[in-house]
Amino acid sequence: MVTYPIDGIDGDMSFLEMLDVLNNDLISRGEEPVVFDHDCREGICGSCSLQINGEPHGPDRMITTCQLHMRKFNDGDTIVIEPFRAKAFPVIKDLSVDRSAFDRIQQAGGFISVNTSGNTIDANAIPIPKPDADSAFNAAACIGCGACVAACKNASAMLFTSAKVSQYALLPQGRVEATQRVLNMVEQMDKEGFGNCTNTGACEIECPKGISLENIARLNRELLSAQFKG
Ligand code: SF4
Ligand code: FES
Repeated sequence: MVTYPIDGIDGDMSFLEMLDVLNNDLISRGEEPVVFDHDCREGICGSCSLQINGEPHGPDRMITTCQLHMRKFNDGDTIVIEPFRAKAFPVIKDLSVDRSAFDRIQQAGGFISVNTSGNTIDANAIPIPKPDADSAFNAAACIGCGACVAACKNASAMLFTSAKVSQYALLPQGRVEATQRVLNMVEQMDKEGFGNCTNTGACEIECPKGISLENIARLNRELLSAQFKG
């Protein structure tokens, strides 16, 4: 851990802008800047994953680190910033971690097969009950940031994986491969070294996109039914 004093931080600056100020200072002094991940800075991409004062994405709710403002802190505060900690998210450098384990879980089942022989059914022609469409959409809001893993005492990836399973399980297009999908995604999740879920619920509290624990219940139902079929 290194302590850096910083001046000139405005309350309207975002947390990442504060880190930009720090890095500009460090570079102008000929020192190494602090490595941290970021991309969209709009709460969309899920890159900006930092543990701030012990909480993934900091003290606010339903926002990512890039949407956190410095007015949430007091002048003179010491802010403790760490990378997300999980065996399956190895630290690359400073505050940057490798979250490619999530990509591999997604690759294991996050797709559907579509008949492109010329007889493809227009997706809009398939009636879907509104509550199912809404729940699928809510699950699809997961940005793969990893806060659920960082918040979990077991470093479990169940909230993330359940969101990915749910977004397909709720739609007719996703039912075709549903059995294999849940088996493959859960197998990959375990292979990556994530811990087991003990229904603590810290993941749901820290998730910037409001992904609900209901998705974990759905994953468990899907998995049980797939294991019987298998
Ligand atoms: S479930 Fe929430 S916390 Fe977990 S990866 Fe998705 S958006 Fe991030
Ligand atoms: S930088 Fe994309 S969500 Fe924060």
